[in-house]
Amino acid sequence: ISEIKGGRDEGLDRLGQTFVVKGWVRTLRVQSSVTFMEVNDGSCISNMQCVIDSTTEGYDQVESGLITTGASVWVEGVVVASQGSKQKVELKLQKVVMVGKSDPSYPVQKKKVSREFLRTKAHLRPRTNTFGAVARVRNVLAYATHKFFQENGFVWVSSPIITASDCEGAGEQFCVTTLIPSSGEPASSDVGSIPKTKEGFIDWSQDFFGKPAFLTVSGQLNAETYATALSDVYTFGPTFRAENSNTSRHLAEFWMIEPELAFADLDDDMSCATAYLQYVVRHVLENCKEDLDFFNTWIEKGIIDRLTNLVENDFVQLPYTDAIELLLRANKKFEYPVKWGSDLQSEHERYITEVAFGGCPVIIRDYPRDIKAFYMRQNDDGKTVAAMDMLVPKIGELIGGSQREERLDYLEARLDDLKLNKESYWWYLDLRRYGSVPHAGFGLGFERLVQFVTGIDNIRDAIPFPRSPGSAEF
Ligand code: 4AD
Ligand code: MG
Repeated sequence: ISEIKGGRDEGLDRLGQTFVVKGWVRTLRVQSSVTFMEVNDGSCISNMQCVIDSTTEGYDQVESGLITTGASVWVEGVVVASQGSKQKVELKLQKVVMVGKSDPSYPVQKKKVSREFLRTKAHLRPRTNTFGAVARVRNVLAYATHKFFQENGFVWVSSPIITASDCEGAGEQFCVTTLIPSSGEPASSDVGSIPKTKEGFIDWSQDFFGKPAFLTVSGQLNAETYATALSDVYTFGPTFRAENSNTSRHLAEFWMIEPELAFADLDDDMSCATAYLQYVVRHVLENCKEDLDFFNTWIEKGIIDRLTNLVENDFVQLPYTDAIELLLRANKKFEYPVKWGSDLQSEHERYITEVAFGGCPVIIRDYPRDIKAFYMRQNDDGKTVAAMDMLVPKIGELIGGSQREERLDYLEARLDDLKLNKESYWWYLDLRRYGSVPHAGFGLGFERLVQFVTGIDNIRDAIPFPRSPGSAEF
């Protein structure tokens, strides 16, 4: 299928050639003399239409009803021009082999099933057009991410998942607990029973071998240590937030891309974020045409134009203070009040990018110090920090970043102000003691990027196995 895309013109130059397709049956239409079977191998949206008749080896399996929707098959046939309007070519089968049969209870039938329903079938939903396309685009975005940073001289650094520090200082962390069988035997045999009974296990209550530890909320602090040694670096890995928010933009487990630039300020950071986003979107426009056409037709009309505009135009930059002015002057009643010193809510962010700037990404900079994390560099006005958030239509905040406070005295004073324990940041402070440099970075939520590029409304549909309050089944 990847070579001859069933619904497209490319197959026409393969007429008369023999091909094998291995995939899953999407539909089956039995007529008196021929049967049409659409097979998809996951390489693209288009199914391969296969024509089966009594001369096809294995015809009896079709005739007897053994092969049904959802079954896996191996077929071999000759490419012929199709009479149908949906595809230019089809495979006239010489042979069909059923590899694995599908029970009649197969839940992912062709009839339109809601994305909500499919979330309860996370193990089968990649067999649908939508989730297949999302998975392929997600893969291309990941590839383009590495390509962008590698081409620009960044070194990929793996940041730890288990950590003692809370980068964002927001206390939204999951604890790591050690469970060890009292006998000393490994606990692998019946993992499912551990949380229920804990019998036979020593529970070192919420400690990582005797010390507190958490799942990381961000790899930034670790990235900073490598940036102040190797220059530009980036992380790309899973991060975790114990925020109990049931929104279409929040997950408990999400992937984050965090570049960290050495000898750099906030302007460099914003330029990097802009260049990165334009690069990966352009890469998807060039390499995922069929999937984007699908999203354009079925998920969000106009998404291709929206993405094309993004790669062709500069982004707007706006100081936070001006953004507040703009919201105060807006002819719209917001649910959350607008006032200098408050964080922007999603409704404000969306108004700015969707209404005020007509769908163009907007980078807001220089936020009030008191609503931002301890590590951000204080501006000369004493009230704001060199922070930036990139807002995009439909999503709101896609990127959050800042220039880091590289001055030891300022950073220590800030930790004191916030009553954070300086001792636990000893290694982070060391970076300011030994050869400190101006540096800056940002974090991009990978699933929000996938949402943005596919038009998928809910973040739970932008990751293969979503983790949100109450859902960790699959
Ligand atoms: O704005 P955040 O919290 O920034 C940081 O974590 C910084 N340490 C990043 C850095 O400067 N290296 O998160 C960064 C981005 C957000 O803009 C958002 O896209 C995403 O991560 N994000 C989430 N995505 C999904 N679910 C959640 N619960 C998210 N929380 C943040
Ligand atoms: Mg943020």
